[in-house]
Amino acid sequence: MGKRITDKVTWVGKIDWELKSFHGDELSTFAGSSYNAYLIRDEKTVLIDTVWGPYDREFVARLKEEIDLKEIDYIVMNHNESDHSGALPELMREIPDVPIYCTKKGEGILRGLYHQDWNYVNVKTGDTLEIGDSTLTFIEASMLHWPDTMFTYMSDENILFSNDGFGQHYASEMLYADAENMNHVIDEAEKYYANILSPFNMFVKKKLAEILEMNLPIDLIAPSHGVMWRRPEDIQTIIGLYQKWCDNYQEDQITIIYDTMWQSTRHMAQALEVGIQRKSPNTNIKLMNVAKEDKNDILTEVFKSKAILVGSPTIANGYSYGIAGILEMIKGLKIKGRKAAAFGSYGWSGEAAKLISAHLEEAGFEIVKEGIRVQWAPDQSSTEEVRSYGEEFAEAL
Ligand code: FEO
Repeated sequence: MGKRITDKVTWVGKIDWELKSFHGDELSTFAGSSYNAYLIRDEKTVLIDTVWGPYDREFVARLKEEIDLKEIDYIVMNHNESDHSGALPELMREIPDVPIYCTKKGEGILRGLYHQDWNYVNVKTGDTLEIGDSTLTFIEASMLHWPDTMFTYMSDENILFSNDGFGQHYASEMLYADAENMNHVIDEAEKYYANILSPFNMFVKKKLAEILEMNLPIDLIAPSHGVMWRRPEDIQTIIGLYQKWCDNYQEDQITIIYDTMWQSTRHMAQALEVGIQRKSPNTNIKLMNVAKEDKNDILTEVFKSKAILVGSPTIANGYSYGIAGILEMIKGLKIKGRKAAAFGSYGWSGEAAKLISAHLEEAGFEIVKEGIRVQWAPDQSSTEEVRSYGEEFAEAL
């Protein structure tokens, strides 16, 4: 059965408690997630979004408990990635002629994924759909985070259906952020933003400004993942956080990311920490061993950091596969305005620090110092050199 949100709106999504990774294994989702779909019953009946394919039969069966499918007048697809459109083929088998409102790019994605000639209706920003007392207004939100994305605003109830925007991978039967541990929800919202939306900061910034300029009364933000934001202070909080996060967000934090074979590079990471602390005692320093930490948690810390240090022992004339993986993911964040340097121990050839610096530069970081290397295990004197390097690095920020 669905969950009542207002007299006219019912949540008909799927809570996925089991989901621990997403996009294949690209994104960890330790708190589970949900695929939120909404059923609007005004004079017309509208379904907003569906759920991921593995739950398609369950979704359609539960929707049938809620409503005779033939009563659905319109389907609105805010975003057509498989986690929201996956149940469409199962649903459309039952109601093949119902118009699907989506952006032109959205139609392209649906055709590309499902190869069906459904009744598509393309909409643009400002287009409306009268459904009775309420009107649905469509707002294109391209690159938040796919080209097809749009938001749908429901007047009268003042609900912004924001799809991935303002979402979190967070499973909850409670539906609302204020019914959960708010710090946990916000941490998940930040992880979501850092990993999914931060490469598109400029688009987020423009879209937020545009929506705020529209001056829409918003009583509820209903995303497609996780919990909804309903209290005015929570709506303000999440919008305020998005405004901050999209605008060259950084905290007074330095993250030291490293891999280690026989503890020498770890020893260097700790020496760097000591050096930074000498110069900047108030800076928050985080040490993250790529072999022990979740990759998406590391990316979230990179997102928050004003600078990073990345270290690996030299392995086969290169760096470790853990560092290679995280560097590639960091590059995907399209970071701007951050500083970095590299470090690493070695036995004989010692290329890692130089190669890491090159990768970081390619990823958009300003390299403030040539990387530092230590041969074999650091002794007292080389440990002090690494500490001094940390001091100079903090000084250069
Ligand atoms: Fe939740 Fe971009 O799909």
